[in-house]
Amino acid sequence: MELLTVCDLNIFGSDHCSLVHGINFSIRAGEWFALIGESGSGKSISAFALAALLPDGLRREAKEIKLLGQDLTRLSEAELRKIRGTDIAYVFQDYQSAFTPYFTLGKQMDEVIQTHRDWSKEERKKKAWTALNEVGLEGQKVYQRYPFQLSGGQLQRAALALAMMMEPKLLIADEPTTALDAMSAATVLSLIARLKNEKGCAVLFITHDLRCVRRYADRVAIMQKGLIVETGTKEEILKNPREIYTRNLLASVPPLRNVPKRLPVLGEEGLGGGALYAANSNF
Ligand SMILES: Nc1ncnc2c1ncn2[C@@H]1O[C@H](COP(=O)(O)OP(=O)(O)OP(=O)(O)O)[C@@H](O)[C@H]1O
Ligand SMILES: [Mg+2]
Repeated sequence: MELLTVCDLNIFGSDHCSLVHGINFSIRAGEWFALIGESGSGKSISAFALAALLPDGLRREAKEIKLLGQDLTRLSEAELRKIRGTDIAYVFQDYQSAFTPYFTLGKQMDEVIQTHRDWSKEERKKKAWTALNEVGLEGQKVYQRYPFQLSGGQLQRAALALAMMMEPKLLIADEPTTALDAMSAATVLSLIARLKNEKGCAVLFITHDLRCVRRYADRVAIMQKGLIVETGTKEEILKNPREIYTRNLLASVPPLRNVPKRLPVLGEEGLGGGALYAANSNF
């Protein structure tokens, strides 16, 4: 069953230049959908556009963005506020941005619950503690902490707890592990996978990490210069890509063993300019 259907999504910059050019994709209930592609291709702004969270200066136009049968393009800001957090939730690379530094995590989580539920203080507290426990943090303790009292890995786990707290149907994770050390990144990834399975939500996962795509994704979309150039199952994309750009993208990933002296350069055919050296990327 389709959970999200995006039809003809366009995004424009302040000077009316087109940044994303009429993309279409759909995500099924419970699936892990990976969105990959070169830097600047429009992955993040496309994800922001779904719940109308584009930064100032960017504008979205779409024929339809249907989530659970409801067209998000037709909702008012007040209606959108209700579905953010409950139906669709985000975790970002910049985990600092999930919380303001001025209040405890507990206070901030409490505010989110109050926005969506008419519960007593005790019920809200228990909900937040449980969400924190589910990402391996000591709920009661961490609830009282300020963001700066947590390590980067802990804070990203708390951000994940906040995102998953109201049990969204779609979790959008935009490079959630890029800013973390390898151990914390692996922990956050396996937590997302576990929570996805336990809660039955779908994940839109934006990443440069092909190992993670190999391990977790069900389907994959490839983005280049504001267009989705190829979509398919993980097996189709990784083993038998149709597009030259996808082949180049995959070829630019250095193997774990027997790394060649010179890695293929993504740029000539695929990017038409801005060359991306795989050796410097996260692939
Ligand atoms: N706030 C903004 N104002 C104007 N242009 C923007 C803004 N944010 C992004 N863009 C432009 O939109 C395009 C797509 O950016 P986006 O951040 O979605 O890329 P991305 O695919 O997520 O890249 P990365 O992999 O580096 O995160 C880029 O050309 C970028 O310069
Ligand atoms: Mg991005």
